[in-house]
Amino acid sequence: MNLALVINLVYIVASVMFIFGLKMLSSPATARQGNLLSAGGMGLAIIFTLVNQHIIAYQWIVLGVVIGTVVGVAAARMIEMTAMPEMVTLLNGSGGLASLLLGWSEYQRNQEVVVFSAFVIALTALIGGVTFSGSIIAWGKLSGKLDGKPVLFNGQQIVNMLLLLAILVCIIFFTLNPINGLIIFLVLIGLALILGVMSVIPIGGADMPVVIALLNSYSGLAACAAGFVIENNLLIVAGALVGASGIILTNIMCKAMNRSLANVLFSGFGSVVESATGQGEQGEAKPINTEDTYPILEAAASVVFVPGYGLAVAQAQHTARELGELLEENGAEVKYAVHPVAGRMPGHMNVLLAEANVPYDQLVEMDDINPIMETVDVCMVVGANDVVNPAAREDETSPLYGMPIINVDMARTVIVLKRSLGVGFAGVQNPLFFKDNTRMLLGDAKSSIQGLVREFKEA
Ligand code: TAP
Repeated sequence: MNLALVINLVYIVASVMFIFGLKMLSSPATARQGNLLSAGGMGLAIIFTLVNQHIIAYQWIVLGVVIGTVVGVAAARMIEMTAMPEMVTLLNGSGGLASLLLGWSEYQRNQEVVVFSAFVIALTALIGGVTFSGSIIAWGKLSGKLDGKPVLFNGQQIVNMLLLLAILVCIIFFTLNPINGLIIFLVLIGLALILGVMSVIPIGGADMPVVIALLNSYSGLAACAAGFVIENNLLIVAGALVGASGIILTNIMCKAMNRSLANVLFSGFGSVVESATGQGEQGEAKPINTEDTYPILEAAASVVFVPGYGLAVAQAQHTARELGELLEENGAEVKYAVHPVAGRMPGHMNVLLAEANVPYDQLVEMDDINPIMETVDVCMVVGANDVVNPAAREDETSPLYGMPIINVDMARTVIVLKRSLGVGFAGVQNPLFFKDNTRMLLGDAKSSIQGLVREFKEA
């Protein structure tokens, strides 16, 4: 059997491993094995790519592998769980840059390319450049190195249109005449880098998770285009998988926020949020302390924890799990209901709860908990606000109207753990706080839950 055939067969095996690995990522119970399976597929693909007879300099590849491994292992070990979005953004940016450089080096190696090859080289430079500079700006906003506020100015759309037009002209000229196209190619790279910056600056820091998913998708498309440039089937397949999964994730997030992608990309939502103050109080909230919460929990046969961004701020996941265990020992059925956009990044709550060793079978999704919410004795809302706001269901004038929420107000009793009656991310008042069956356990969520744990232990 000839070598090229063997390599292509291995690429098919690796592609199947990627696809099954991705499928396994959809459940926390299989996610770890899914990751390993995909990594195994990538390992196999790398080894068989290296036996390709067209490789001219192994020493540079070995150097790259050593540097990449050292940086990758160190970063994975040192980065805090809360800084994961920043890390993912940088990885996306690196993917974009790698594709751009690959397209560039292929062009330098052989400028006498056919129209299709010139076109995909131009696409690699464009998508790779946008992904790289966009990711750097997203990283700056997420890490606080840049101001998270949306940057909006008069004529912004016109500037973007002119930029796109200039890029289009460069692509056409380069594709038609690649032999004398180095200057145009370099201009194209420069414009792509500017477009990446211009695309991300108008987006508020709080919308960055959606942008990260989108940039992830772009990095996949850039890799896919790079696959066409070097005629590598596996790179085309892997890039397409990343591109498709990134866009699916982007879509899931937009739907869960009841916003369109256009609204996220162009509305400058963060600025609206920061100026919003809510619509004033809508009644009298009924405060409660840990001593009075204890008997309610002690008598409950079913308790559902609904975590939100405040759980992450308070780092209350471990104490919440401890309280959950005490409730179970007391005979209650305990569940953790997770909203798809609770927190500030996809899977934020799942990661925190997994870190605290909350059993996977106690995690329930919004669509599974809502139909049985009326049978739940106590809902413990831990630092969640928008994702449990009944105005999304009841108030057509609310900015949240139409967003799917966890219907905690339908439980028999709701205990809301937060520090004040203040608003959440969307900046709107929450009528849940004033419902008859709601009690406000005000204070830092971790301290409040620690107080409840003490009550159980001392009882
Ligand atoms: P939010 O609506 O942001 O509310 C979080 C609440 O936590 C705040 O009202 C805050 O109230 C409370 N809090 C903060 N620190 C606390 C502490 N130490 N102890 C107790 N409570 C604390 O959170 P959510 O319900 O999770 O909703 C997420 C929001 O983010 C949604 O609007 C969603 O659309 C948006 N968003 C999410 C994502 C992803 S992918 N998850 C991406 C972009 C946007 P106090 O200040 O009164 O304590």
